Amino acid sequence: MSFYIVSFLVLVVALSGVASSLNARIVNETNAANGEYPYMVSLRTAGNVHLCGGSILNHYWVLSAAMCLVSISTANVNVVVGTNSLRFGGVIYQVELVVIHPSYNSVTLIYDAGLIKTTTYIRYGLVVEPICLAHVLPDNGTVGALTGWGFTLTSTSENNLKVLKTKVMDQTVCKNKMSVLGYNLQFMQFCTFNEYAVGCVGDNGGPIVVDNKQFGILSWLTCIIDIPDIYTNVPIVRVSAEIEKRIINGTTVYNDDYPYMVSLRSTANYHFCGGSIVSRFWVLTSAVCVNLIPDFIVVVGTNSLSFGGVIYKVDYFLQHPLFNSTTLSYNAALIKTTNRIQFSRQVLPVFLARVLPFVGTVGVLTGWGPTSLPPLSVPDQLEALRTTVIEQSVCADAFTDRGYTLQSMQFCTFSNKSGGCYTDAGGPIVAGYRQFGILSIATCGSGYPDVYTRVPYIRQWIMKYI
Ligand SMILES: *[C@@H]1O[C@H](CO)[C@@H](O)[C@H](O)[C@H]1NC(C)=O
Ligand SMILES: *[C@@H]1O[C@H](CO)[C@@H](O)[C@H](O)[C@H]1NC(C)=O
Ligand SMILES: *[C@@H]1O[C@H](CO)[C@@H](O)[C@H](O)[C@H]1NC(C)=O
Ligand SMILES: *[C@@H]1O[C@H](CO)[C@@H](O)[C@H](O)[C@H]1NC(C)=O
Ligand SMILES: *[C@@H]1O[C@H](CO)[C@@H](O)[C@H](O)[C@H]1NC(C)=O
Repeated sequence: MSFYIVSFLVLVVALSGVASSLNARIVNETNAANGEYPYMVSLRTAGNVHLCGGSILNHYWVLSAAMCLVSISTANVNVVVGTNSLRFGGVIYQVELVVIHPSYNSVTLIYDAGLIKTTTYIRYGLVVEPICLAHVLPDNGTVGALTGWGFTLTSTSENNLKVLKTKVMDQTVCKNKMSVLGYNLQFMQFCTFNEYAVGCVGDNGGPIVVDNKQFGILSWLTCIIDIPDIYTNVPIVRVSAEIEKRIINGTTVYNDDYPYMVSLRSTANYHFCGGSIVSRFWVLTSAVCVNLIPDFIVVVGTNSLSFGGVIYKVDYFLQHPLFNSTTLSYNAALIKTTNRIQFSRQVLPVFLARVLPFVGTVGVLTGWGPTSLPPLSVPDQLEALRTTVIEQSVCADAFTDRGYTLQSMQFCTFSNKSGGCYTDAGGPIVAGYRQFGILSIATCGSGYPDVYTRVPYIRQWIMKYI
C-alpha cells in the first residue's frame, strides 16, 4: 500500500517536471484518438473547406453556433461525421434545414446557437454517436473537453481533431475580466480558461463536454492565450433548441413530454408496437399488437429505442372480447406487467377519455414508427404528430375503394402527407392528457386517414381490470 502511494507521488513529480520543460503546445491540447469524440461534426463548404464544429444530437439534427450558420445556405454546407481528419474519411450528409436561435444577435453574440437538419438519417456506429445536452452548467473549476479543428496557436497540424481540456470559470470573474476588454458577458454565456491553450478560428460551434453531456457551444474566441473562451450556455438554450425541433414534421420529442408512452419490444429489443400506461400494472395497446410476437416486453421511461428506460415483463394480456381480426372491430388489448410500474417524471399513466372526440379535435399521436417510406427510415427517438379528427362519413368513403368498412367503434384522423406508420400501431392519441384512441390502422401518410379504436367505447371494459 505505502509502496503504491510513494510510486504515485514520484510519478506525479516526474510528469510535472517533464511538462514544464516541454513546449506548452502539447501539454493540454492533444490529438483526439479515433472515435473518442463520436458526436463531433465538421461543417464544411460544398468544396470541403472546414468552417465550424458541431455536435450530433440525434439521427437528423446537429447543434452548432448561430454565427456559423447565418451566412450559409443549405446548398453550400455539408455535415461530415465519423472522422478525426479534415482530409480523409467520414460520411458526408447534406443539409435540409438551418434553424438559427430566434434571439441570436450577431453583434453581442447572445444566444449563439443554431440547429442543422440533415436530409438523410445519420447512421450511428463505432465512431458516430449522438451527445446528450446537459440540464445544468457544471460548477466552476470543472474541466471540460472542447474539441475542434481550429487553427489553434498551440497546434502544428490543424488537420486532426484536437481536444483541449479547459476549466469552467466563475461567471463573475469572467464577466470582470471581459468587461476590461469591452465585452459584456451575458447570462446565457459562460467562460473557460486554460493558461496554455485556447480555441481559435474554426473551433466555433464546437461542443464542450463533461460526463458525456454537452454543456456549451464555443462562441466567442480570440486565439489569445490570456483571454477566456466564451460559450453559449447549453442548459439555457436547450429548451428553445428543442422547441425548434418540435415544429418540424417528423418531430422528435423530449423526455418527459409523453410519460405514458410505452414501447412494446421483442426480448431481443426489437420495437414492434406502441402502447400507453393506464395504471400501475396495466398497459393499453391494440389486440393485433399482442398477437404479433410470442414473447415480448414493455419498455417505459425513455424516448430512445437504443438506450434508457425500464423494462417490465409481461404477466399476461387480454384482448377485447369483441375483437374481430377481420374487421378490426374493438382492436384493443390490456397487458399486465409482472411488476408494479414505478412512476416518475418520465413514467406516468394517461387518463382515458369519457367522451368521443369532436370532428376537428387535434390530438397528439406518438410512436417510433418509420418516418419516411421509401426509403424506410426508422427513428431512434419518439416522434409526435398533431393530427385532426375527421368526419366519420368522409373516412368511411375514403376506405370504400379499398373494400374496408369503417366500424362504429372506430374514428379517423387525417393530416396531409403525415400519419402513423407500421410500428406506431397500438399507440395512443391524446388531447388534454386524455387518451381518446388506440392506433389501429396506420396508413403511413399515403393519402388515407389513420383509423383508431375509440377509447370511450372500451372504457368500461378497461376499468374492470385496471
Ligand atoms: C495544463 O497543463 C499544465 C502543465 O502540466 C497544468 O499545470 C495545468 O493544470 C493544465 N491545465 C488543464 C486545464 O488541464
Ligand atoms: C467559483 O470560483 C471562485 C473563484 O474564482 C470561488 O471563489 C467560488 O467559490 C467558486 N464558486 C463555486 C460555486 O465553486
Ligand atoms: C409539414 O407539415 C405541414 C402541415 O402540418 C405541411 O404543410 C408541410 O408540407 C409538411 N412538410 C413536410 C416536409 O412534409
Ligand atoms: C368477424 O367479422 C366478420 C365480418 O363481419 C364475420 O364474418 C366473422 O364471423 C367475424 N369473426 C368473428 C370471430 O366474430
Ligand atoms: C396535400 O399537400 C399538397 C402539397 O403539399 C397539396 O397539393 C394537396 O392538395 C394537399 N392535399 C390535401 C387533401 O390537403
